[in-house]
Amino acid sequence: MSNPKRSKIIAGNWKMHKNRGEAKALAEAIAKGVKGEKDLPIVVLFPPFTAVSTVGDVVKDTSVNLGAQNMDHHDSGAFTGEVSPPMLLDVGVEYVLIGHSERRQFFGETNASVNLKLKAALKHGLKPVVCVGESLDERENNLTDAVVRRQVGAALADLEVTDLKTLVVAYEPVWAIGTGKTCEATEANRVCALIRATINDVFRSEESAPVGDSIPILYGGSVKPSTIDEQLEQSDLDGALVGGASLTADEFLPLIKSAQKRIQALVKV
Ligand code: PGA
Repeated sequence: MSNPKRSKIIAGNWKMHKNRGEAKALAEAIAKGVKGEKDLPIVVLFPPFTAVSTVGDVVKDTSVNLGAQNMDHHDSGAFTGEVSPPMLLDVGVEYVLIGHSERRQFFGETNASVNLKLKAALKHGLKPVVCVGESLDERENNLTDAVVRRQVGAALADLEVTDLKTLVVAYEPVWAIGTGKTCEATEANRVCALIRATINDVFRSEESAPVGDSIPILYGGSVKPSTIDEQLEQSDLDGALVGGASLTADEFLPLIKSAQKRIQALVKV
């Protein structure tokens, strides 16, 4: 049974999709779909940079939150093509994806750059969603646990336990992203629990409760309305980071509804 005290989150990563008009229409449909609803999960939209302001205008004063898909770790400077944490804050961004596997795969992001970005996000008060996950090759070679542990450990290097209040982690097996191949819910849960245990190992403390127990851990990788209920039933899985199924309100709103039902069920227990 998932810990009811941990926030439940449904996040939409729009990747390189949607011009401003399309983004506005989708954000409006989502905001309308959740308006007046109780027991909602935290809903976050991650539009492409060109549409961040547009979506921000739509979602301000709603229960939908604004995120960015990436950022540089510097505050400003000669870094052509990059966007800084203060720039994100300036347009109302609250959440930021860090180390998405597509950034690692295609844009040279490493565990070290993820760590720098995580520290920069925390320094500026942005809520980080740190993405980790193994490739198909790594899974087939039984390296899943080692890879995920290394990614989590490296991301958290040099942080203090007090830095983790807003941390969210997303487990996204690379082979499940955009492929239609969802990781079995129980296996996704096992890796989410491993992530939580790894965080607890890094920040082991005699005095306080294990910090990992309060950190939301999401699953991402071909999440759809037909997969979400079983995923949300898992003990260590607190929501979803969704790509393809976040691109239409028809698919994204049912994911929010499922999380809402789950929240209501957890409250009753
Ligand atoms: P997907 O993408 O839902 O299309 O698999 C998930 C992600 O990349 O965050």
